[in-house]
Amino acid sequence: MFASRTNWRLETNRLTRALEEHRKSGKTLFDLTASNPTECGLAYPEREILAALADPRALVYRPESKGLPEAREAVAEYYAGRVGFSASASRVDPERVLLASGTSEAYSHIFRLLCEAGDEILFPAPSYPLFEFLADLADIRLVPYPLLYDHGWQIDFASLRAALTPRSRGVLVVHPNNPTGSFVKPREAAELAEICATREMAIVADEVFLDYTSGRVRALLGARQNEDQAHTFALHGAALTFTLSGLSKISLLPQMKLAWTVVSGPDAIVQTAVERLEIIADTYLSPSTPVQLALPKFLSLRHELQAQLQRRIAANLSALDAMLRESKSLARLDREGGWYAILRVPVTGTDDDLTVALLERHSVLAHPGHFFNFSREGFLVLSLITPENKFQEGVTRLRAFFDG
Ligand SMILES: Cc1ncc(COP(=O)(O)O)c(C=O)c1O
Repeated sequence: MFASRTNWRLETNRLTRALEEHRKSGKTLFDLTASNPTECGLAYPEREILAALADPRALVYRPESKGLPEAREAVAEYYAGRVGFSASASRVDPERVLLASGTSEAYSHIFRLLCEAGDEILFPAPSYPLFEFLADLADIRLVPYPLLYDHGWQIDFASLRAALTPRSRGVLVVHPNNPTGSFVKPREAAELAEICATREMAIVADEVFLDYTSGRVRALLGARQNEDQAHTFALHGAALTFTLSGLSKISLLPQMKLAWTVVSGPDAIVQTAVERLEIIADTYLSPSTPVQLALPKFLSLRHELQAQLQRRIAANLSALDAMLRESKSLARLDREGGWYAILRVPVTGTDDDLTVALLERHSVLAHPGHFFNFSREGFLVLSLITPENKFQEGVTRLRAFFDG
């Protein structure tokens, strides 16, 4: 009856079952996976957010396949003053911006643009788990390429090159990556561009966490560029590049459902890519008018909201590091940005065994590394945007679990 692409294993996993039991018990949960910013106790400028949705122009339907021009201008403005990898242009052209209802939708459109059924997109491992579902729905194959950890993460280019086949259509990068928090380095971006340009492949760059750089990276960038920002792929000219981002992380407004794609690269190919993407977008016309009209305001609110979240991340990281200094068995991997921290833990069982036991015995919820495609056991992923009191108590309990 149903298409095989939807033959997913639908049974709940052990951790989800244990979580349901825990919730029924009524015990306090120390949720170190919390990643919904609207439920993390941030102070949102509520009146300003709601007022932005009340623009009278929203009473008229003005369908625009790429999105309303004023919204695309605001996206171009978001990139103003940023530094690109091998910049082809110093600013983003709003005509090369397309809006979507979320990055998931933007990914689907890009996969449909680039791939025949059965074609391949390379993606980093570890990384964000939703990609596999997006690939199933687009009838494409996701082929992992490893990120290697050695005092910081780097792309394993030997493995990436070995994974290329005649069906490879693009390389996906998450910049900075979720959950490793690692940025693509300029040297890596150049190598990716060289690979993609020679093989007529595209770069698909997910920059939803771009603005969340850690102090160390800011210091490095600051020393070099007197800037607080990481390089962006949106000003990347060496290969056809699709850069994705959106309100969910940049303005901490996931419920507003607005994301964008910036197309960059050699002019002729960019032109064709934009024309075709425009037809795909026009088929759905999904972003709503009130949210598009509110986009300039929502983007302008990001500075204050991001500052709050950065303070939260810094406070949680310092609580985590204080705990780790006391710990006999736990360590944290280096990170450069994003919202997560990765812990190395003793491999006394599978990551599933550990996370279920942690929840049942200490009421602490952490993500096992395999959720994010880690190749080995022994990693837990913690969200640094968890409210501070819960985070501190959670990591204290975590230590008690492992150190005894
Ligand atoms: C790497 C990455 N990309 C995209 C998203 C989702 O973005 P959106 O809400 O715009 O679809 C997430 C959400 O956690 C993510 O981690």
